[in-house]
Amino acid sequence: MVTGSAGFIGSHVVESFEAAGHDVSGLDLRDNGADLRDRDTLDRRLPGVDLVVHQAAMVGLGVDVADLPDYASVNVYGTAVLLAAMARHHVGRLVLASSMVVYGEGAYDCAEHGRVRPGPRAAADLDRGRFDPSCPVCGEVVRSAVIGEDAPMDPRNAYATTKLAQEHLAANWARETDGSAVALRYHNVYGPRMPRDTPYAGVAAIFRSALEAGRAPRVFEDGRQMRDFVHVRDVARANLAAAEAEPVAGGLVAYNIASGVPHSVGQMAAALAAERGGPEPVVTGEYRLGDVRHIVAAPGRARAELGFAAEIGFEAGMKEFATAALGTP
Ligand code: UD1
Repeated sequence: MVTGSAGFIGSHVVESFEAAGHDVSGLDLRDNGADLRDRDTLDRRLPGVDLVVHQAAMVGLGVDVADLPDYASVNVYGTAVLLAAMARHHVGRLVLASSMVVYGEGAYDCAEHGRVRPGPRAAADLDRGRFDPSCPVCGEVVRSAVIGEDAPMDPRNAYATTKLAQEHLAANWARETDGSAVALRYHNVYGPRMPRDTPYAGVAAIFRSALEAGRAPRVFEDGRQMRDFVHVRDVARANLAAAEAEPVAGGLVAYNIASGVPHSVGQMAAALAAERGGPEPVVTGEYRLGDVRHIVAAPGRARAELGFAAEIGFEAGMKEFATAALGTP
């Protein structure tokens, strides 16, 4: 069963599981008004299911604290209701859509103090264009490093907090039921059917929507913030690999799901603009307080344990995305 089966990532997951010959049942508010938080719906739908791929969620950075109850209700309470129902119906396997946002800032090295964990950036620093975090010990500028799955958790916004809560709830469920839970920490997913421009959309969709409307992509900060843009069909294949892997009972295992080749937000804007013949991106110096500066993944664990490696490179993926149909939010 795929939750969120009508959504951006969920719909690609359904397609990849069907192509691999699996019998897929989709659960989605949009398809059949099936709310994850409704115990009766789950009691009807779970019998016969052997594995749940949980993609349904409220996504994005959100607008302000007024969003907190919705994030908590859909992502935390919804997952709790799902896990309890899986236990009632003896469904022993979960693949969870998690996110790199559970790490907060990426990993950083200080020339003097080695691996450090900078705190949230101060508005005063951002206001004067100082975007890179500094060493919490000496205040010197730090160098961004790749982040592994064992990095400390440090969620910096409501969405991140609820994704981390989902991981913890899934781990609780796995221990109590001897179930198997796999958390896939997606980096920046993009590709066909990505929901168009809303305050909750990822940056690739925001830029793509702007270009379609003939507006220049507005690149925040100095555009040099690094991300790992991973194509949605690769993410779907990662879900399939996790579902087909030998289950590890009694706990949760987490994997970075990334391309392994980071790019800056400015490079991404330029690639999309070039592909569509303009307008050229504008670097605005604006910032959002909940944003982290750099987050770049070490993709090695998924390769070693799930046999997953991304196949769609940045150039080919952005070329397709520049003209692909977007989805409805
Ligand atoms: C994004 C998702 C997050 C998801 C993660 C991994 C959102 C809002 N964020 O995190 O939910 O878990 O990928 O898949 O969906 N930016 C601009 N111009 C804009 C908007 C954003 O330059 O118009 C910049 C931001 O300042 C930031 C970067 O683009 O530096 C990435 O933003 P975004 O895609 O929103 O968030 P992520 O933190 O990368």
